[in-house]
Amino acid sequence: MGGSGVEPARVAALKEREDAAFVAARPRSRALWSAAQDVMPNGVPMSWLRTSYDHPPLFVESATGSRLRDVDGHEYADFNIADMSMFTGYGPPAVVAAVSRQVALGSQYLLPTEDSIWVAGELARRYGLPLWQFTLAATSANTEVIRIARATTGREKVLFFDGKYHGHFDDVLVELEEGRLVPEEAGLPHDVTARTLVVPFNDLDALDQALSGHEVAVVIIEPALTNNVGLLLPDDGFHEGLREVTRRTGTLLAYDETHTQVVGPGGLTRRWSLAPDFVTVGKSIAAGIPLGAYGMTHEMAAVLQRPGGRDDDRPQVAVGGTLFGNPLSMAAARAAMGAVLTDDAYAHSQRLGGRLADGISGAVADAGLSWTTHRFWPRSGLSFSPTMPRTAAEALATLDVPLRRLMRVYLANRGVWDAIVGAGPTCSVAATDADVDAYLAAFTELLGELG
Ligand SMILES: Cc1ncc(COP(=O)(O)O)c(C=O)c1O
Repeated sequence: MGGSGVEPARVAALKEREDAAFVAARPRSRALWSAAQDVMPNGVPMSWLRTSYDHPPLFVESATGSRLRDVDGHEYADFNIADMSMFTGYGPPAVVAAVSRQVALGSQYLLPTEDSIWVAGELARRYGLPLWQFTLAATSANTEVIRIARATTGREKVLFFDGKYHGHFDDVLVELEEGRLVPEEAGLPHDVTARTLVVPFNDLDALDQALSGHEVAVVIIEPALTNNVGLLLPDDGFHEGLREVTRRTGTLLAYDETHTQVVGPGGLTRRWSLAPDFVTVGKSIAAGIPLGAYGMTHEMAAVLQRPGGRDDDRPQVAVGGTLFGNPLSMAAARAAMGAVLTDDAYAHSQRLGGRLADGISGAVADAGLSWTTHRFWPRSGLSFSPTMPRTAAEALATLDVPLRRLMRVYLANRGVWDAIVGAGPTCSVAATDADVDAYLAAFTELLGELG
């Protein structure tokens, strides 16, 4: 039996059948992929895209609302929505209008527009932090927060939690391997681990010990871990403990809400009344038009303020980028938050997320499997274990990679796109009851075939 309790041979046989059907039904994607390999490594615009899937890549023709259409004419109800960067759904009319207007007026001037005041103000209202700055992606928002934290504290180290993902920058691309920190991928400096600490999620003792040396500038954490290991929820009292130990040791605290912002306006920071020094966001805040942002307290912003402007003699913190916070992104963010990511829209996605979780858990129970269904507002998902894991190590111990791979291709062959199955299906604000029905029908059919 696999970690999931399902017979591996059955999974392998179904995978072979479904892979063959996937490839046979997508000749145009296959032809484009073949041409693409002449001009791009792996035949994709970013080589890592190839490693995200174990079937040939889909080439996309278009997408609207919650639906994606490939070049072979297949339509998919999209439950991954580009790893949540399209939580607004594809092409919301208010964003299309705002972006079209702004691109005609000029998409970048290296000068601010009035939209930036609205967007910063709206993020302040949602997340409860008064001052905001902008980048092009969450990765660079996290990078800049670390630099501000170093400038503020005079400390160099950063601390993350095992199972984290906060983007693609050196300090964070390290992982624990048998208790030792190692570079996560090739191409990183050999001493990339020198300034990073990683402790298990939900382990306040390990955190206390790691911060006791007073060397860590900032802890960056998702309020609930949503990435490499499925979903990890905090124990009762974990966030209070985290805040207490960070304050006691003079360590700053940043919540990364890049994924968790889908739970409602203000993300988990607002829902759980968290009190960070920084919040970072990205992905869907501008409906998938590139924009990252970070909010901070007045105290944290002190190192950025330069009353003397260019002639201020204090050293400037290393932040910035030509296209960061550009007017096109700002126009998109204003339309996305003003007209699309409304309270009603979040409530709609949560109702559908609840239906999805009920349906998944019912199908699992009917199949007699002892798996746990996630319930995370618009998002659901599965742990192949009778209880929710509390740490990355527990989550990895129950992972059944072949079964996860089978699920993706099986669902895709039935018009459901759940591109990162471990990330859990998420209902965007554009999702419909028919999408949820399609997901549950395909999922129930799969469980039936797994026997
Ligand atoms: C929690 C979190 N932070 C940061 C990032 C990085 O976002 P981006 O790749 O858009 O920079 C991601 C991406 O998945 C994320 O999930």
